[in-house]
Amino acid sequence: MAKVKTGFVLWFTGLSGSGKTTLSLEVERRLKKMGIPHVQRLDGDVVRKELTKDLGFSKEDRDENIRRVGFVAKLLSDNGIPTLCAFISPYKDVRHEVRQRCSNFVEIFVYCPLEILIERDPKGLYKKALSGEIKGFTGIDDPYEPPENPEITIDTSVESIDDGTEKIIFYITEKKLIEA
Ligand code: ADX
Repeated sequence: MAKVKTGFVLWFTGLSGSGKTTLSLEVERRLKKMGIPHVQRLDGDVVRKELTKDLGFSKEDRDENIRRVGFVAKLLSDNGIPTLCAFISPYKDVRHEVRQRCSNFVEIFVYCPLEILIERDPKGLYKKALSGEIKGFTGIDDPYEPPENPEITIDTSVESIDDGTEKIIFYITEKKLIEA
C-alpha cells in the first residue's frame, strides 16, 4: 500500500480540450488503486458551477477563479490531501502566486497543438470561438501564457493518458511526496 508522505498540489494547466481533466481523473484513479484513499480533484468545469459561479472569463475573473481555487488547494494540501487542480489558468503570474502559497506545488503543462484541439473539439467550443459566437476564447482570441519551467510537460498529441499518468506518478514518487 502506498502512503502520502506530505500533502501536495498537482496543478494541470493547458488549453481547453488538451486533456487536463482526463489526466487528473486517471491520476486520481491510480492513487486510489495504490491504496491512497483521500484524493481531492478540483476542476474548472465543476468549480465554475459552484465556488466561482459569479465569475466570467475576463483576465480579472480568471485570476480570481485561480486565486480562490489556490486557497482551497492550500487548505487541503496543508492537511495532507493530494489535491489535483485542472484549470486552463492561462496567466503565469497568478499561477506563480498559487505556487508560492502552496507547500508542494507541481505544475503540469498539458500541451497539445492547437490544430489538433480544433479537430478534437469535444464540446464544440473551438468551432464557436472560430466563428465568433464565443468571444475571448483561450488560444483563439484570448491569451495563454505557457509555463516557463513546469515540473512536468505532457504532450497529449503524442503521449497516451497512461504514459502521462505514469510520468506523474514517477515524479511524485521520486520527490518523496508519496511512498510506494
Ligand atoms: S480559467 O481560464 O479560469 O482557468 P477554467 O479552467 O476555470 O478557465 O474554465 C475553462 C472552461 O470553461 C473551458 O473548458 C470551457 O468549457 C469553458 N469556457 C467558456 N468560455 C470560455 C472562454 N472564453 N475561454 C476558455 N474557456 C471557456
